[in-house]
Amino acid sequence: MSCTVAIGAQWGDEGKAKMIDYLTRDMDIVARYQGGANAGHTVVVDDKKFVFHLIPSGILHEDKVCIIGNGVVLDPVELLEEIALLQKKGYDIKHRLIISDCAHFILPYHKAIDSLMENFSDEKIGTTMRGIGPCYSDKCLRIGIRTGDIFDIETLERRVTAALKIKNQQLEKIYGEPPFTFDEIMEILLEFKEKAGSMVVNTQEYLHNAIKDGKGILLEGAQGHALDIDHGTYPYVTSSSPTIGGALLGSGLNAFDIDNVIGITKAYVTRVGEGPFPTEADEDDSERLRVNGNEFGSTTGRPRRCGWFDLPLMKRAIQINGMNQLAITKLDVLTGFEKIKICIGYDLKGGRADNICPSKFSKVKPIFIEMDGWEENISKCRSFADLPKNAQDYLNFIEDELNVPITYISVGPGRDYTFKK
Ligand code: GDP
Ligand code: IMO
Ligand code: MG
Repeated sequence: MSCTVAIGAQWGDEGKAKMIDYLTRDMDIVARYQGGANAGHTVVVDDKKFVFHLIPSGILHEDKVCIIGNGVVLDPVELLEEIALLQKKGYDIKHRLIISDCAHFILPYHKAIDSLMENFSDEKIGTTMRGIGPCYSDKCLRIGIRTGDIFDIETLERRVTAALKIKNQQLEKIYGEPPFTFDEIMEILLEFKEKAGSMVVNTQEYLHNAIKDGKGILLEGAQGHALDIDHGTYPYVTSSSPTIGGALLGSGLNAFDIDNVIGITKAYVTRVGEGPFPTEADEDDSERLRVNGNEFGSTTGRPRRCGWFDLPLMKRAIQINGMNQLAITKLDVLTGFEKIKICIGYDLKGGRADNICPSKFSKVKPIFIEMDGWEENISKCRSFADLPKNAQDYLNFIEDELNVPITYISVGPGRDYTFKK
């Protein structure tokens, strides 16, 4: 078997969960490797919609093991709710969900500081307010609390005391907010221990043993390439590495373990929150894409900004992540556009700037070409040959320009709306 990494190639919400659910059929294990409950991963099965924030999107396949890897920042309250919700819907997942003992907890003070910072700042990022940035900062500052800490009460109490000493100073002195008590934080952690402690293991070891046993592993990216803390549109990014480096760091696997990197991309582009977006469409087209594609955040409900397919952005994502396959989702959303724009390059003050650093995206102008659209409803298409000629031309053009095969095409939110090219 093999190890495949599925990475969002744009600014998140590319339809990763839908593709991961599809790809899970041929896998044994699905593992999240970074991010936290900022992710909103939607899977639709038999018209039933599931939105996962922390639990891997392969969980609906009853015989698969799902892993929350060491690179994930884990909100214990959110995870317990997500598990309970699935149980209520009849999915018994406790025996096949495992959690790394090195993942960091997101605690109430992280969420409080996330929203306080957003409200105080003159340069808002538009975060999901899920405590992501503050938690990863604490990890780097070495004042984080890790899942494995729950097994040694003395260590746990010492670490919570040390973290609170610093966090409460920040809350009170910088923001004038009330402190969190030791007891309220411990209560959350002890409840997590009681209800989910048995799932916490050394997942790095588990994954390496699975590789030795020839199991198929799918590493599930959250967010997307252009939100990467290093390779994205800094500072308008998330605080983790959705890119290939993050997949290794956040799972404990090594570069030689990886066989495939699938880039997941919409047939157009969306972005939520602040930050530059070179191919953002004009108001009319943006609204039309938003309505056709139901482009509202799965986590926050915010309207997503919409724009046209961006080849330079994709070329960069392919280069940095080593994507050797592409999955194109939401092709159906383009139905009805007389002309479909594609950005083939960036212009900066009259010269080409296709390889410009993403932080400078606000300075470039997209160079668009237009292709003919199609009117036919494509949601019943189940092969490339079924697609109208103009849709085929659109995909062939993208494939030729990117020089990477499009292996999967999706024409609807449901599990059955995906086919191989
Ligand atoms: P993720 O974060 O990458 O997993 O994506 P989200 O779940 O946040 O957003 C993708 C949205 O598009 C969800 O509502 C999906 O149900 C929906 N979706 C996925 N693939 C398709 C598709 O091919 N066509 C349509 N119309 N919707 C899709
Ligand atoms: P999935 O996995 C889309 C964006 C936020 C904000 C920036 C920083 O569903 O694709 P954060 O809360 O991470 O500090 O916010 O990143 N963002 C996402 N946008 N999809 C996501 O996840 C996102 N996760 C974070 O909107 O602009
Ligand atoms: Mg999403």
